[in-house]
Amino acid sequence: MRRKTKSCCSPSCRPPAARRALPALLAALLALSGCGGGKEDSLRIGAALYTQDDTFISAMAQDLEGLVREAERETGKKITLFIADGKSSQSTQMNQVDRFLARGCDVLCVNLVDRTAAAVIADKAEAEGVPLVFFNRQPVAEDIQRWDGIYYVGADARESGELQGRLVLDAWRAGREALDRNGDGILQYVMLEGEPGHQDSLLRTEYSIKAVTDGGVEVEKLANETANWNRAQAAARMAQWLEEFGDGIEVVFSNNDDMALGAIDALGDTPRDRWPLIVGVDATAPALEAVAAGQLYGTVHNDGQGQAQAMIDLALALWNGEDPAQAVELAEGNYVWLPYRQVTLENLDGFWED
Ligand code: GAL
Ligand code: CA
Repeated sequence: MRRKTKSCCSPSCRPPAARRALPALLAALLALSGCGGGKEDSLRIGAALYTQDDTFISAMAQDLEGLVREAERETGKKITLFIADGKSSQSTQMNQVDRFLARGCDVLCVNLVDRTAAAVIADKAEAEGVPLVFFNRQPVAEDIQRWDGIYYVGADARESGELQGRLVLDAWRAGREALDRNGDGILQYVMLEGEPGHQDSLLRTEYSIKAVTDGGVEVEKLANETANWNRAQAAARMAQWLEEFGDGIEVVFSNNDDMALGAIDALGDTPRDRWPLIVGVDATAPALEAVAAGQLYGTVHNDGQGQAQAMIDLALALWNGEDPAQAVELAEGNYVWLPYRQVTLENLDGFWED
């Protein structure tokens, strides 16, 4: 096991000016000091999840496990992946990060519980000289720039909102009579929002609607509320709204698929011709089934597998002291962005295996 001990790997033995060339320098220092030799040993990755009780995140964890095995076969190196479930508690996640560092993890991958906790984790990793990849829950730019060993792997939340909005706009243009049930020329909608403060909640909410209004369609918001990415909470909100607005809801925008499925649960036995149009984001397996069944009009594929692959490629490059830009496509120095894609009944077949 490769341990990063204070004596040879702490920032105190690294001149501050040298931090900009961290990966290569770190590898050289490790080799010189004899405390590295990582190439013969195993790469140890510590992945901290905000909660495993989240459909998209638990699928990502499975992807990580599968891709690690694949990377082992391809590289011939031993890779050990530790996964910790933060159970939606930032203090639990802090302890998990401490344990990963104490165990000598070579790279940390952190899906923050609370995005504002990024700086504390960045400082802990820096103190041990351990590169850090945040994913899915995006820290503010200043936290990513805190030192050179920090990366973010994710998808552009604004893009997902725009693509979701365009799904609705296209449906309006293709079949306005069916969508505009009260015939007033205005699209009445409700918005199921993810966790408050999450970049994906804020930007999907804003840009989905903007895409519709930019397309020249007038909208009227009947209601919006958070359901914290959660299917059961969304079903409860939707049940209330159905009582309040009944058939007046023409479209349900949902910041993710699990909440869209909650809205579908709430519709229950309502005859299909009285259902609003429902759109989600993620393209999880149950959501694809709902698209196939004609319950969910469309979704936006959030490439968790691509994100997991980028994290492993980054981890391997950083561990090997290679230039990460050779392993992944980096934007603004330290960001890896995976594209979103629209999914409807028409192109569904291409997504089942993802
Ligand atoms: C989003 C995803 C949600 C939820 C959230 C957790 O990207 O669309 O379903 O998993 O991340 O941070
Ligand atoms: Ca209307």
